[in-house]
Amino acid sequence: MGILSLAYGAAFTDDVTFAGLEGLAPALKEGDAWLRAGAAEGKEGFGWMNLPRRGTDDVQALARWLATRESIVQVGIGGSALGNLMLHGALLPPYWNEIPKAKRGGPRFFMADNVDPADGRAVWDLIDPENTAVVVVSKSGSTAETAANFLFFWEKLRDALGSAGARERVVVVTDKEKGILRPFVEETGCKSLVLPADVGGRFSVLSCVGLLSAWALGIDCGALLAGAAEMDDRIAGAGSLLDNAAWVMAGLNFLHINKRNVTVLMSYADALERFGEWFAQLWGESLGKDGKGSTPVRALGTIDQHSQIQLYTSGPDDKLYTILTVEGKKDIVLPAAQEKSFEKLAYLHGKSMNGLRNFEAEATAAALSKAGRPVMSMSLGALDARHLGGLIQFFEYVTALTGFLLKVNPFDQPGVERGKDYTYGLMGRDGFAEQAREVEALSAKIGERSVAA
Ligand code: PA5
Repeated sequence: MGILSLAYGAAFTDDVTFAGLEGLAPALKEGDAWLRAGAAEGKEGFGWMNLPRRGTDDVQALARWLATRESIVQVGIGGSALGNLMLHGALLPPYWNEIPKAKRGGPRFFMADNVDPADGRAVWDLIDPENTAVVVVSKSGSTAETAANFLFFWEKLRDALGSAGARERVVVVTDKEKGILRPFVEETGCKSLVLPADVGGRFSVLSCVGLLSAWALGIDCGALLAGAAEMDDRIAGAGSLLDNAAWVMAGLNFLHINKRNVTVLMSYADALERFGEWFAQLWGESLGKDGKGSTPVRALGTIDQHSQIQLYTSGPDDKLYTILTVEGKKDIVLPAAQEKSFEKLAYLHGKSMNGLRNFEAEATAAALSKAGRPVMSMSLGALDARHLGGLIQFFEYVTALTGFLLKVNPFDQPGVERGKDYTYGLMGRDGFAEQAREVEALSAKIGERSVAA
C-alpha cells in the first residue's frame, strides 16, 4: 500500500494548464538526475537524500542512554529544533510532558530554541539537573541563540553538579570541525555526535539531529527511515510525470509561482501542526532567493476555517492550496443527546469525529475550488512512523526539485547568514566589526523618520 495520494484535478487555472504541467516532464527528470548525482558525489547540501539508508548505530547507542534520563533539554534553533518538534508532535501522544512517568515510558522533552530569559528559567525550574541531559545541536556550531542558551544551561548544570557532573549530562551534536562546539567536546570530553557535512540544517531531521531525541522518546525511527527510503524509491525518476506525485506537486508549485507566490499547507490534524512549521522553514529558506520563491503559509484545519477561509476564498488570488488529511486511528463516536434542546444535533449522533474532520477538509477544498482557487488534496494513509518518514522525504524532495526548476540553489541560506553576522557584529564578536558598522548605518536609515502613538 502506498504512503500518500495527491488529488490535483482542481489545481489548474486559466494560466496553469494540464498541458503546461506535462511540458515540465523533461525538466523534472533532469532535476531528479541532478539531485541523485549530487547525493552520490557527496556534494554539500545533497546528503539528505542518503539519510534514510545511512548507518545509525552511534545515534541508537546514545539514544539508549538518553532514554534513561527523566528530562531532556535540547538547545538549538531552526533546522536544529523544528524537525524534533515535528517528529514528537506527530508521533507522540498529545501533552507528552504532562503524562505520568509510568504511563509515558520516556523522558520529558523541552526545547530551548528562542532567546527568551523567561523560557530558559522556566525550563530550568521544571527539571532535576541530576536526572537531566542537555543536548546542544548546531550545524555551524556558532549560532548566537544556541550559544546563549547553552551557556545558560551549562553554567546552571556546573553550579548544580560540578564540572564532571555537568559534562556527563551534555551531548553535543555538531559539525566534524566547524564552530566552537567541536573544540568544546575535545576540551571537556562530553558525549557527541557528528552532523554529516553534506546535510544542511533544514534537511537534517532524518540525521542524528532529529533521530537522537526521537529514539530516546520511544519513536520507531527504524520505521521512520524505512518509510523515507520507501518514498525515495517511489519517487525515483524513472516513470512518467503523471505517475509521480512529487513531480506533480513540484511542477504545479513551479507553474503557479508567477501569479501565486504564496503556498498554503493546511493540515487537518493537530499532530501535524508542527509539520507545518517544519515545512515553512524548509520551503521558505530553500526557495526564497534571487527575488524568487513562494511564501509558505501553515494553516490548521479546522481552526483556520474560522479564521482564514474568508480570505482564502474571497481575497486575492495569490495562493496555491494543499489540504493535507490523515486517516486517524483513534476516534470518538459522537453520543446521542438526551436533551430536547439538542434535537437539532441528531445529525451528529453516531458519526465519527475523524469523519467530521475529513468532511470539513473536503468542504474546504470544495469551497476553494468553487471560488476558482487552485487546490490540491493530499491524503496520508496513517500517522505512524513509516508514513511520516515518507511524508518528510516527499516534501524535502519536492522542495529541492522546485528549487531546481526555479534555478536557485535550494541548499544555501545567505539571507539567514547575513542576519547571523549582523547579530555577531552588534554583540561585539571578534571579526564582525564591519557588519556592526553596516547595521549602524542601516538602523540610522530606518530611524530617519519615526512617529509615536
Ligand atoms: O537551515 C539552516 O541552515 C538554518 O536555518 C539553520 O538550521 C539555523 O540557522 C540554525 O543553524 P545551526 O544549526 O548552525 O545552529
